[in-house]
Amino acid sequence: MKNIILGIESSCDDTSAAVISDGLLLSNVIASQKVHEAYGGVVPELASRAHQQNIVPVVSEAIRQAGINISDLSAIAYTRGPGLLGSLLVGTSFAKGMALGLNIPLIDVNHLHAHVLSHFIKEKPEDDMPEFPFLCLLVSGGNSQIILVRDYFDMEILGKTIDDAAGEAFDKCAKVIGLPYPGGPHIDRLAQTGNPKAFKFSKPHIPDLDYSFSGLKTSFLYTIRDCKKTNPDFIEENMEDLCASLQKTIIDVLLDKLKKAIKLTGVKSVAIGGGVSANSGVRQAIMELCVKQGLKPWIPQRKFTTDNAAMVAIAGYHKLLNKDFSDLSLPPFARVTI
Ligand code: KG4
Repeated sequence: MKNIILGIESSCDDTSAAVISDGLLLSNVIASQKVHEAYGGVVPELASRAHQQNIVPVVSEAIRQAGINISDLSAIAYTRGPGLLGSLLVGTSFAKGMALGLNIPLIDVNHLHAHVLSHFIKEKPEDDMPEFPFLCLLVSGGNSQIILVRDYFDMEILGKTIDDAAGEAFDKCAKVIGLPYPGGPHIDRLAQTGNPKAFKFSKPHIPDLDYSFSGLKTSFLYTIRDCKKTNPDFIEENMEDLCASLQKTIIDVLLDKLKKAIKLTGVKSVAIGGGVSANSGVRQAIMELCVKQGLKPWIPQRKFTTDNAAMVAIAGYHKLLNKDFSDLSLPPFARVTI
């Protein structure tokens, strides 16, 4: 009998459902919420309401695209946390109700594990996957972490941000120069035709392998404020160069600590994950670093970088193989580490 698992993701502003059969991805449906664009950031109450509207059609579509019946499912995996509590509650309650109704096991998944394990999603049986141990640079709107991955669920955070995440730095700086939310992809696009050396922004001096991005954000803000005093059109005239210089600074900060972690652990491969790993500059910099140091890079397909249920389903699949099931009484967690 096949192990067919449904994954459900609802931790922030994407409602997603995916089906994985014996480790192979059959469907991955994502409904992104446009309602937040007008507010320049995710509004938690609106996010949970949109999840409520989306969850039934998204799950139905994932089942349809997978070509299965719900009675074929072996288990249901869902994101328990971290994330927005109201959003998590929608996915958690839905998963519990469905598992109870179908009388099949329920599996809780840590969203951060899921991002790391996105490298194990197979779309074709011959798809390659990382060997343990490896380092994963997990960079998203809520996290910036360097993780030593010893096994599927044996992970250690070697460094993390002490304030803003890399994605927040992209989004908050984008807002300063009038770009829509989320600003990361816009900066990425504009940076391609800009000069990364045009502006210098301050870099943090944080000990160990931890990150900090709040100083960079302030330095960006002050540069704009000062330059606008003498030239009111400063932003419009320098948009591409500002984006390229900001992106380059964020990448330099990320890679500086990553290089230290590689040296410290002696790993032979490096993966990236999370929304910011969709950034073309980040992807290129990781490739170049790995080529230079003789390491194997693991760069996820863009569709698996931002929040998606395929990564929840693959994490759930590996828990299913270990019969690591969860209790219907488990509450979601807004804050939880690896
Ligand atoms: O992993 P994710 O979907 O969810 C959160 O943790 O929120 O990451 C979203 C983050 C946002 O900050 C967004 O601006 C950033 O990922 N992002 C990017 C790019 N695509 C998404 N940042 C830079 N360049 C991109 N191409």
